[in-house]
Amino acid sequence: MAANSTVIYRKDYTPPSHNIDSVNLVFDLIPTKTRVTSTLKITPRPGRRSDALELNGENLRIDSIRINGEPALSDQYDMFPGRLVFRSIAKPTEIEIVTTINPQENLQLSGLYMSKGNFITQCEAEGFRRITYFPDRPDVLSKYSVELHAPKDCKVLLSNGNLIEEGELPDGRRYAKWEDPFLKPSYLFALVAGDFVANEESITLADKRQALLQVWVEPGNDNKTAHAMESLKKAIKWDEKKYGLELDLDRFMIVATDDFNMGAMENKGLNIFNSRCVLADENVATDTDFTQIQATIGHEYFHNWTGDRVTCRDWFQLSLKEGLTVFREQEFSGDQLATESAKVVQRLKNVRALKAFQFPEDAGPMAHPVRPESYTEINNFYTMTVYEKGAEVVRMYQTLFGEEGFKKGLQEYIRRHDGSAATCDDFLNAMADANNADLSQFALWYSQAGTPRVSIKTEWNEQRNELTVRARQVLRTFPGQPKPKPMLIPLAIGILDDKGKDVPLQLVDETEPQGTTRVLRLTQEEQSWTFTNIIRQPTLSVGRGFSAPVIFDIDYSRDQLIFLAKNDSDLFNRAIAFEKLSLIAVDTLMNEMRTQKNDSNLSPMTSYLTTFQEILEDDSLSPAYRAEVLKLPSETAVAEQSIIVEPELIRSALALMQKKIGQRLTSTLEKWMKLCETIGPYKCTPELAGKRALRHLMLEYLVASGNVKAVQQARTLFDKGNNLTDKLSGLRTIALSGTPIGRELIQTAVRAWSNEPLLFNKVLQIYALARPSKGDIPTVEKMRQMMFNQAFDIKNPNNVFSLLRTFFQNGGPEFHTLDGTGYQLWIDTVLEIDKFNPQVAARLGRALENWRRYEPNLASMMYKALSYVSAQNNLSNDLREIVDKALYEPV
Ligand code: ARG
Ligand code: ZN
Repeated sequence: MAANSTVIYRKDYTPPSHNIDSVNLVFDLIPTKTRVTSTLKITPRPGRRSDALELNGENLRIDSIRINGEPALSDQYDMFPGRLVFRSIAKPTEIEIVTTINPQENLQLSGLYMSKGNFITQCEAEGFRRITYFPDRPDVLSKYSVELHAPKDCKVLLSNGNLIEEGELPDGRRYAKWEDPFLKPSYLFALVAGDFVANEESITLADKRQALLQVWVEPGNDNKTAHAMESLKKAIKWDEKKYGLELDLDRFMIVATDDFNMGAMENKGLNIFNSRCVLADENVATDTDFTQIQATIGHEYFHNWTGDRVTCRDWFQLSLKEGLTVFREQEFSGDQLATESAKVVQRLKNVRALKAFQFPEDAGPMAHPVRPESYTEINNFYTMTVYEKGAEVVRMYQTLFGEEGFKKGLQEYIRRHDGSAATCDDFLNAMADANNADLSQFALWYSQAGTPRVSIKTEWNEQRNELTVRARQVLRTFPGQPKPKPMLIPLAIGILDDKGKDVPLQLVDETEPQGTTRVLRLTQEEQSWTFTNIIRQPTLSVGRGFSAPVIFDIDYSRDQLIFLAKNDSDLFNRAIAFEKLSLIAVDTLMNEMRTQKNDSNLSPMTSYLTTFQEILEDDSLSPAYRAEVLKLPSETAVAEQSIIVEPELIRSALALMQKKIGQRLTSTLEKWMKLCETIGPYKCTPELAGKRALRHLMLEYLVASGNVKAVQQARTLFDKGNNLTDKLSGLRTIALSGTPIGRELIQTAVRAWSNEPLLFNKVLQIYALARPSKGDIPTVEKMRQMMFNQAFDIKNPNNVFSLLRTFFQNGGPEFHTLDGTGYQLWIDTVLEIDKFNPQVAARLGRALENWRRYEPNLASMMYKALSYVSAQNNLSNDLREIVDKALYEPV
C-alpha cells in the first residue's frame, strides 16, 4: 500500500547509479518488533547520472543510520514517502541502517511475516523494501551474508546459500549464519525461522559433487513429502541431461507454508512454497495435485538458472524468466510421461487453460503485451499473459528452430548473461545468433498485445491435383494506437486424404515431399501456399499441437469436424475438432432454449453423440486421452465463442447436454465405468490416473441423467474410496449435479476435513460450485455462512481463493443474478480483504473486468459494482489499477 500511485513506463528505464557489492543482514527475530541491521558496501558506478543513491523502503521504522561508521548527519540524506535518498555517494562507502519491522502485523504476506508462529519471507516483486531500505530493483546484484537471531523455540533458521555456523547465544536464544556465494537481486532473498522438520537426502550430481536436498514442513506433515522429494530429484536430473544445467549449490531447500499469496517462490537455494504445491499423499492430494506439485517443484527449481543465475533487468522483463520457466516446466512434465498420447493430454490441458483465461485477458481491459509497456502495481502483472502466453512465445522458438536449435540458443543466452540481469531482447538475440536467423519480426510477439486471429481458406483444384492454403492474420487494434504490424506466426499443418491418411506435403516449387506435418511461416497479412500431388479430396489440419497462441478461424462443415475428430493423426487436433463439434452442439441447445423450439434428430446433438461414442469405444486411445477429449466444454469455452455472455443460459445448456449424454449413452458409459475400475492400493501413475479420470467422467454423465445406481456409486466413492481422487470425485459429482443428497455430503465433508487445511480448501471449492437443489438457501447466503465457519480464515489466501475466487471467477451458481446479491458479495469481500492484503484483493477484483461482454442487465450491474469500489478513497494501488482499468480502459 505505497502512498503514491504513479504509472511506471518501460521507456523510462535507467541503470542503477551505484553497485551494492555486499549486503550483511542481522535479524533479531521477534514477532512484533524485529530489528534488522543492514550493512551495505557501496561503489558508485561509472557513467552514473548523479551521485545520489536512492533506496526504497515501506512500513519501516528507522532506528539509526551510519555512514562509514559515523552517525549520518541530517544533511546527508532526505526522506520521501517510500524512499530514502543519500545526497552524494561519490566514492566507495559503507552504510549501516537499523530498522524495526512488525512481522506479526504484516498481513499482506509480502516482506517478512508470520505464518502459524513461523517467520517467512516473500520478496518478489517488491517485498524486500518492507524488510530494510535497499535499491529494491532486480538489476542490483549483490553478495549476501545473513545472521539470524531467534527465540529458543525457533528450532530451524534458514536463509539463502550455505550454512556457515549455528548454535546458541549467551542469552539462550538461537543463531545461524548463512552466506550465499552467488550474486543476486533483493527479490531472491529469503529467510525462514520456526518449527519445521526436514525430509532430506544427499544426491550425487553429474560432475560427482554431492548436494543435500531438504524439504522442510511443519511437524506432522513429514509423511507427505516423498512426492516433492522425488519431483525435485527428477527436475535436477532433467535439467542436467536436457540442457547441461547443473545444480550450483551444496544445498537446496524447499519450505512449505500454509500462508502464501502465490504458488511458490524461487529464492536462491531456499524455495518457499504454498503447502498445497508440496504436500501429497493419497489422502490429501488428487491425481491432478500430484502432477501439479511435480510441475511447480520443477518450475521453481528451473528458475535457478532461468531467473536466478540470469535474472531480469527490470520488471517489464518478467516474462523473460516466467515465460521461459513455464515452458521448461511444461517440457519437463511432458518428458516424465511415457507415451505420446499422455503428452498430448498434458498439452491439451495447458492450451485449454490458456484459451479459457489468457484469451479473455488479452481481449479485455487488462490486455498487455508479454513484455508490458507500463504498470502501476507490478504484482498485477503476474498474469496468464506473462506466464502462459510467454511460454507459448518461447515454445515458438523451438517450433521454428527444432529442439537442438532451441537448446543452442538457450545455452548461448546463459553463456552471455550468467551472473547478470537481462532483457527479453537479449534472449531473442541469443536465439537468433545461435541459429543464424533474423528474428526482428518475431520480436513483435513481445510488444503487440491481443490474440491474433488467423483465418484459413483452402481451394482444391481437382484437375491439377493442387491444394492452395490461404491464411490471413487479423490483429487486435487498440483504440488510439497505431495499426499493429503483421507477425511471424508458425502454422503447423497436415493434409488428410479422403481415407483420413496424412498426405506427404510437397509445395509446387519443390522436387519432393517433406514429411506429413510442416511448419509454414505466416509473415504477411495474407499469404498462400500451394501443395501438389493432392489427388483425393483433402481436409486441412491446421495449428497442429497448437503451433502459435492464436485463434484459428477455419470454416469446417460439421462433417469435416467429425472426419477430423475420428482421423487426424495429430491427436491434439483430433481433440480440438471434437471440441468444436461439442461447442456447436451446445450452441444449438442454447438456441433451442432461447426459442423454445426443438429441432429433434437432425440436431448436431445426434452426430455429436455418435462421434462421442466412437471415440469412447476406440481402444487404441488411452483412457486419459479419452477422458480429456470427451469432457464437456467448460463454461468459459462456451462464453469465449458467444458474442454476448449469458451465464445462466450457458450453465443450463451444459447441464442439459450432460444429461442427454447420460441418457442416450447409458449402457456404454456404464460399460466403461466398469472397464476402468482400478483395484488395489492407490498409486499415482499416468495409466491409473487416466483410468480414474475416464471412470469419473462416465459417472458424471450418468449422475447428471438422474441415474439412481450412478448416484449410489458416486456416494460410495465418497464414503469408501481409498484415495482422495475417488472421494472428491464422488462428492463433486453429486454436489455439482444438484442431487439433493449433495447438501448433506458437503456438510459431512466440511466437518470431517476442516482441521486439515489441504482438504478444507478442496471442500470449499466444491461448496462454491455446488448446484442448489430444491429447498436450499440462496447460494450467496450460503457463501456468507461459510465465511463464519470456525475453520475459514479470511486472512488465508488459500481459503479466500478456494471459496471466493472459485465462486467469482468460475461463475458459481447464482453469482450472476439480477438481484445483485452476488455482486454485493464481491464488493463486500474485495473491500474487506483490500484493507490487509491488496494482492489478494486485486486478484479477486479481476472477476468483473470483462463486464462489457455480458448481457446488458448484468453488465450494467457489474459496472455499478465496479464503480462503487472505485469510488472508495482508501483503495490500495493494486485494486485501484484493476477496477479503474476495468471501468475506463478503452477496449
Ligand atoms: N516467481 C514466482 C513464480 O512464478 C512468483 C512470485 C510472485 N509473487 C508476487 N507476489 N507477485 O514462481
Ligand atoms: Zn516462476
